[in-house]
Amino acid sequence: MVLLLAIGGFFAGKVFAAAPGDGASMGRSVSASEQTCRACHAIDTTRVGPPFRAISDRYRGDPDAVAKLERSMLQGSSGKWNTGAQMPPNDISAADAERFARWILGIK
Ligand code: HEC
Repeated sequence: MVLLLAIGGFFAGKVFAAAPGDGASMGRSVSASEQTCRACHAIDTTRVGPPFRAISDRYRGDPDAVAKLERSMLQGSSGKWNTGAQMPPNDISAADAERFARWILGIK
């Protein structure tokens, strides 16, 4: 976890700099949990995990998208994206998971 936070800190500011419009940050303030996302995710490039824009594209039009993405963040995910990696369960609240899901799905 310490390592992930360190990596997140390293990428902070760069990874999400390409976010469109007001989506520059995933929330009003940059939380520690958001920093950990950045260790593995960027908007347009595959890092450990898939690009957020690709996630948004895949789930666009899926009425259950928010619930599915929330579940993946809270319980972890593997085998869906063929990145050769898996996402461990993230230590975030359900409210944060929903906020992140809506933010990701808002990327065009
Ligand atoms: C240790 C690296 C890592 C961290 C940290 C991480 N992810 Fe992931 N994430 C991944 C990988 C790898 C996948 C692809 C999993 C798969 O193939 O099913 C993924 C997939 C996802 C998906 C798509 C899930 C699906 O059902 O299609 C979302 C949404 C997501 N991550 C959001 C987040 C958010 C938000 C955070 C921070 C709270 C986060 N991730 C933190 C590695 C990570």
